[in-house]
Amino acid sequence: MPVKMILDCDTGIDDAVAIAYAALHPGIELLGVGTVWGNVDVELATRNTLRVLDLVGRPDVPVARGADGPSNGGPAEFSLDVHGTDGQGGAGQDGTGEDRPVREAAPVTAARQIVELVRAHPGEVWLVPVGPLTNVAAALELDPELPALVAGVSLMGGSAAAPGNVTPVAEANVWHDPEAAAAVFDAPWPIVMAGLDVTMGALLTARHRDRLAASGEAGRYLAGILQHYGEFYRGRVFGEWVCCVHDAVAVAAAAGVLDVRLAPVVHVEVDVTDGPGRGQTVADLRGRYRGFPEQPGAHCRVLLEIDTGIVDEIVELIAAHRGPGEAP
Ligand code: BDR
Ligand code: CA
Repeated sequence: MPVKMILDCDTGIDDAVAIAYAALHPGIELLGVGTVWGNVDVELATRNTLRVLDLVGRPDVPVARGADGPSNGGPAEFSLDVHGTDGQGGAGQDGTGEDRPVREAAPVTAARQIVELVRAHPGEVWLVPVGPLTNVAAALELDPELPALVAGVSLMGGSAAAPGNVTPVAEANVWHDPEAAAAVFDAPWPIVMAGLDVTMGALLTARHRDRLAASGEAGRYLAGILQHYGEFYRGRVFGEWVCCVHDAVAVAAAAGVLDVRLAPVVHVEVDVTDGPGRGQTVADLRGRYRGFPEQPGAHCRVLLEIDTGIVDEIVELIAAHRGPGEAP
């Protein structure tokens, strides 16, 4: 049986890869996608999400617009240097250079859509938030029974032992809305945390990009938008053209197709202070030297080591896709 999934994205270049992967994977039933501010504003995130779903032939997947800023009412700060001013590396158009028309978003909020879809399939749905956790925290407020009604939450966010990517200790999705993240990490549902510990090693290389560029329309689109993202990583992080496909790792984990090598279940607390630790996910890894003994009450499985061969599988799945009328 395919895994029922709701994505929540701030689309975003690696979000686009995650959406395409989730929409095309035969082991995933993508029930809906919510959009949230983060990499870009929520309008752009919504437009980019609709376009990617359109490109992979999934106009049936409802897309619900969500929050336009952090839950504490503070200003929204975007990551345009990483993802480009259009959130798609300046290449967020179709092959003609024209903006592709996109369908309308669903007439509900992303938080409401989460509640409705989870209530329609109790015990079956994986929530996969790969942006700031504002919508998921809002869904928890709308329906406090949600934690007992989901299969789990597989999120891209945080870092247990690796450095942060916004501050020395904070990862972007948690940094954007630490209060929302705290609400999500504190709620009593099973969480899988795909944080920077593993996603910084999930590298899409120039060989992968070229494979996508030589495939169908969806693959060519992704190769185009990834160009900017890889330049960011070359200039600011790795010194060579590679892309961290952070968000697709959380999708693969929820789908049960990730080869997980080390992932203890530990307590995780989000720092919501205004000091230098703000946005840090403080994970209790003190059991590391004795095989991670059980921590009573802990409900967060923190991915520490994975088989990064998952990137080959993500690329191959997308590169194999052909739209109607495209030659195989
Ligand atoms: C996360 O932040 C965003 O820039 C990416 O889309 C990913 O979800 C990585 O820290
Ligand atoms: Ca994201």
